Amino acid sequence: HGLLGEVWDDEMSSSMLGSRLRKVVQNYQAMNKYGVQLSGPGGVSSRPKLSGPELLCQLKDNVEVTTLTSDLQPFSALPWAAQLPPKPLTSELGPYKSCAVVSSAGSLRYSGLGKEIDSHDAVLRFNAAPTTGYEKDVGSKTTIRLINSQVMASDDHRFLSSSLYSSGVLVAWDPAPFSADLTQWYNRTDYPIFTQYQRYRRLHPLQPFYILHPRFEWQVWQRIQDNMAEPIQKNPPSSGLLGTVLMMSLCEVVHVYEFLPSRRKTELCHYYQRFYDAACTLGAYHPLLYEKNLVKRMNQGSNRDIYTHGRVTLPGFSSLNC
Ligand code: C5P
Repeated sequence: HGLLGEVWDDEMSSSMLGSRLRKVVQNYQAMNKYGVQLSGPGGVSSRPKLSGPELLCQLKDNVEVTTLTSDLQPFSALPWAAQLPPKPLTSELGPYKSCAVVSSAGSLRYSGLGKEIDSHDAVLRFNAAPTTGYEKDVGSKTTIRLINSQVMASDDHRFLSSSLYSSGVLVAWDPAPFSADLTQWYNRTDYPIFTQYQRYRRLHPLQPFYILHPRFEWQVWQRIQDNMAEPIQKNPPSSGLLGTVLMMSLCEVVHVYEFLPSRRKTELCHYYQRFYDAACTLGAYHPLLYEKNLVKRMNQGSNRDIYTHGRVTLPGFSSLNC
């Protein structure tokens, strides 16, 4: 169940999930931990289905990839403000010609995609995803690593000491309440992103390390909800989609690997762990099912690319004529 036909169907809905996962998703759809306020017409059935190019322009026009800088309140008044970068990520990194976004999906196992991934000008990886020992399948280049605050805070990831995090540019994020300003978020983060950030910066002062502005994740969330025919989970998008949109702002073309599962699709959660759960691919907390619908609609590559390589092709924002 779940995945219909050969490749991802862009009309996947929670009703197509198995009963266990469907209940989990429906639970999250009813919950509203972050106080999400629905805007717009809300008449889901009358919503026109946008074309791929229309969706791409909507994303470009409505989502701003911003990061925290040392001049922003309330940080500017705090003693550690100088640890934050003076300039935003988008003015310091890129532009790149071609970029790869490497999901951590179990279907990357035995993919042999390593060389192809490394041939890109920049490679984005997520959270604790390693390259050592998996080079054949996922490559070895890491330009940017997008990490969530849970990984930064958990003991088993040894974020402060593991060499996994010490190469490339780090970008961190933490879910903020939907309409919170930076001060409200600072006083109520999901995980202690700011204490961990300060500790890490003290240990690795030369490594570039950005924090995403929480407005970004909710702008991306709004693009998903506005283009789906049913209410999606009122939780932030997964790292996978956030990283994809981040790279669309830095690169001329973005290839996303195994976000839309290939013929290797599996319930193996991550290529680097022996843990099986369909929720990793189909979502539970994150509106991942709907993220994948949106990416499928925006894909400019072929279904064959998805089937054989798990590869989606997206234009960077600078390549769009909106
Ligand atoms: O689990 P983690 O968030 O570290 O994985 C990175 C991203 O890869 C996820 O946020 C999700 O978008 C994507 N992913 C996936 N299918 C999986 C595992 C991860 O689409 N089985």
